[in-house]
Amino acid sequence: MDVRLALTGFGNVGQGVATLLAERSNDYHRRYGVRLLLTGVADRGGAAVDSKGLEPQVVLDTKRRTGTVSNSGQGSPNLAGTRFLEASGAQILLEAASTNFDDAEPGWSYAREGLAQGMDLVFASKGALVLHWGELMEQASSAGRIVKFSATVGAPLPELELAKYVLIGTDITGFEGILNATSNYILSAMTDGSTYAQAVRQAQDIGIAETDPTLDVDGWDAAAKAVIVANALLGADLRLSDVPRQGIRDVDRPALQEAELAGEAIKLIARATKTPNGVLARVGRERRPLADVLGSLRDDQMGVVLHAEPLGAVATTVQSTGGLATALTLLRDVVNLSRERGWAPILPK
Ligand SMILES: NC(=O)c1ccc[n+]([C@@H]2O[C@H](COP(=O)([O-])OP(=O)(O)OC[C@H]3O[C@@H](n4cnc5c(N)ncnc54)[C@H](OP(=O)(O)O)[C@@H]3O)[C@@H](O)[C@H]2O)c1
Repeated sequence: MDVRLALTGFGNVGQGVATLLAERSNDYHRRYGVRLLLTGVADRGGAAVDSKGLEPQVVLDTKRRTGTVSNSGQGSPNLAGTRFLEASGAQILLEAASTNFDDAEPGWSYAREGLAQGMDLVFASKGALVLHWGELMEQASSAGRIVKFSATVGAPLPELELAKYVLIGTDITGFEGILNATSNYILSAMTDGSTYAQAVRQAQDIGIAETDPTLDVDGWDAAAKAVIVANALLGADLRLSDVPRQGIRDVDRPALQEAELAGEAIKLIARATKTPNGVLARVGRERRPLADVLGSLRDDQMGVVLHAEPLGAVATTVQSTGGLATALTLLRDVVNLSRERGWAPILPK
């Protein structure tokens, strides 16, 4: 079946989605029974739409050549918001624009408008989920819409699917994880001898840290992910302000090296636990044995341990992060959503 996708944001992640569709859409069709059509793409310069499906490679080439997608398809610099979504005729909105934790825009407006137009939502951006969790889920549920967000919680980590499809019959009482690849990379580089400034620069050089790494190194990104995972898996209704936060800016090399000599590593851990007083979450530095699942994760690796009674700890880790891994995670949500909607067979071919 055809599944029409509107994409907001065409940076690393959005271009990763278009690259996957350009190179592998036949593969998705053959293996999962869905023909994924990109019917709209928006960036800050406007949008391109074609309800029959844009040519992803043409959109990529146009973006690279002219700086905006609005010069491809039936594109326009004035196309945005409601009119863009209407013109795309999409069933699913993929929200992959830059975001913030002040007003969650443009994702929050796009999400509400997508719901109003009968679209299901798949998020890469965290802002709307972190600032408006309850309202968003309520609006989606009363509109009969599905919201997926695996790409927001350490893509391509599968902790949400682990809970939903694997840990059936268990009670998840908490989790702990390395959910921010940039800070883990910096801590590893500093343990190996780099100064903080050198480690940040290396992370920027390999494309995992922003020019301004504040959200990563001050723990905001990990705290946002902790909020989303706690709300999704522990039934919490946390806000960012509910999560005490420590970052890695003031960690010193001697402390990292002393920990290593003792067979341990200093890690930035996001955790949340169900308690009689509600769900408590925090982000902070912890010394972990190098033999422990989280203590052993180096460079830009990430991992989560779910505590699921009566099984105990169930862990999942990933090696590969970044734009393409996140794009794969968005399309994984699209395929699973299509299965839930009956647009795709449950069992792969
Ligand atoms: N990169 C990752 O590995 C990763 C992983 C998980 C989640 N995420 C999240 O995914 C989102 C995208 O990440 P990214 O790495 O692709 O960021 P990026 O490279 O900075 O791209 C952001 C995109 O958002 C577009 N944008 C900004 N404001 C917009 C608006 N008002 N309307 C339409 N488009 C707008 C930008 O347009 P222009 O191109 O015109 O500037 C750009 O194409 C972010 O929210 C990020 O936090 C990223």
